[in-house]
Amino acid sequence: MHAVEIIEKKRDGLPLTREEISWFIDAYTRGNLPDYQAAAWLMAVYLRGMTRQETVDLTLTMARSGDILDLSDITDYAVDKHSSGGVGDKTTLVVLPLVASCGVPVAKMSGRGLGFSGGTIDKIESIAGFNVNLPADEFRRLAKENGIVLAGQSLQLAPADGKLYALRDVTGTVSSLPLIASSIMSKKIAAGANGIVLDVKVGSGAFMRNLDDARALAQTMVDIGRDAGRDVIAAISDMNQPLGYAVGNALEVAEAIETLKGGGPDDFRQHCLHIAAHMLKLAGRGERWTDASEVEKLLIGQLENGQAFDKFRQMVQAQGGDVRMVDNPDLLPQAQWTETLVAETGGTVSQVVAIDVARAAFELGAGRETKDDPIDLAVGVKVHVKVGDEVEAGQPLATIYANDEARIPRAAALLRKAILIVEDEVQPLPLFYQVLYSD
Ligand code: URA
Repeated sequence: MHAVEIIEKKRDGLPLTREEISWFIDAYTRGNLPDYQAAAWLMAVYLRGMTRQETVDLTLTMARSGDILDLSDITDYAVDKHSSGGVGDKTTLVVLPLVASCGVPVAKMSGRGLGFSGGTIDKIESIAGFNVNLPADEFRRLAKENGIVLAGQSLQLAPADGKLYALRDVTGTVSSLPLIASSIMSKKIAAGANGIVLDVKVGSGAFMRNLDDARALAQTMVDIGRDAGRDVIAAISDMNQPLGYAVGNALEVAEAIETLKGGGPDDFRQHCLHIAAHMLKLAGRGERWTDASEVEKLLIGQLENGQAFDKFRQMVQAQGGDVRMVDNPDLLPQAQWTETLVAETGGTVSQVVAIDVARAAFELGAGRETKDDPIDLAVGVKVHVKVGDEVEAGQPLATIYANDEARIPRAAALLRKAILIVEDEVQPLPLFYQVLYSD
């Protein structure tokens, strides 16, 4: 086969065969094709799109480009979750122990944050000593013995995606539906999942800014899952305002711990209960956990009886983390300076623009611009209001946590822009818009 013929075929809008896709991707992954040909191909895909069959073929080729985790000696049906990324999204920290506390093993590989979106691996590293770099046998041992493990991507999972993603990042080809869908699903399939819950975010703080695009992405991933023999539930959730109140690594861990202890912000708690319920539904395979209200009761019970928290504590201990920080979150990294913004007038909160809150946290040092930048685990923002809340003049709207006093004014300006108060009545934002199922 010739790379240029495959590029030309896609350029002309013709569908590629499975053989052409796998030849092209394998050649590129092995270093036998130059970046410029892969870049041209990516741009052709970006402009011409892909059929459902092409998208499935691309996903499976990328999934098979490296190790495929086999979890069959740990469970005969592995469930996993993935969020398309949002502001204040610390869901994994709660949902993993919550689901594991119900007896469903969870062995999760998560990523680090880049740009405005945070990463679970950075967040959990706020707990001193927590080791995310686990060798494969240790990862499996913890999954088997404790039913819970959370690590960075230490295995060679879907290396084709890693290489293509880096190229997409610098060639203006990230925001392509088939490329995003195949990128996410290839990693989930390589990570050994039989059942996958996708949390597809929509709104100002998400990849997908409008509901139509989010629906299309969710549907494509559900279709890939179905064609690849995986069960998928895709929940489209709101990301116009931050999830919960905390945005910033240690602040989010503290909020997750509060939630695991039965408290936490109401929206975040409800969000976690929904995602966990979807995971149990998949794990039950139509035999268990079929009654939604019973599942909800079970999950609330696990938060209130301390078992979900105990699972989290067990995970931290097993991975070398300082459990004193879990028992007393005041011991987590703390910022030197705090400043609270208050409402200048009374009224109703009409927006808390997620991307601007993320920019404020980024300004304080909570995120990284390139993958090797250091991050400050202690800094960030806590918003105190949600869309639809009534506020009075002088009421706290947000608190800034900084380690560099000079960065506070810019973060404050971003937060003032993010939070809008109006005189009219405003409806709260929904948590979820739609849920799609593969069967
Ligand atoms: N997340 C991924 O893993 N890949 C994409 O292409 C976009 C978001």
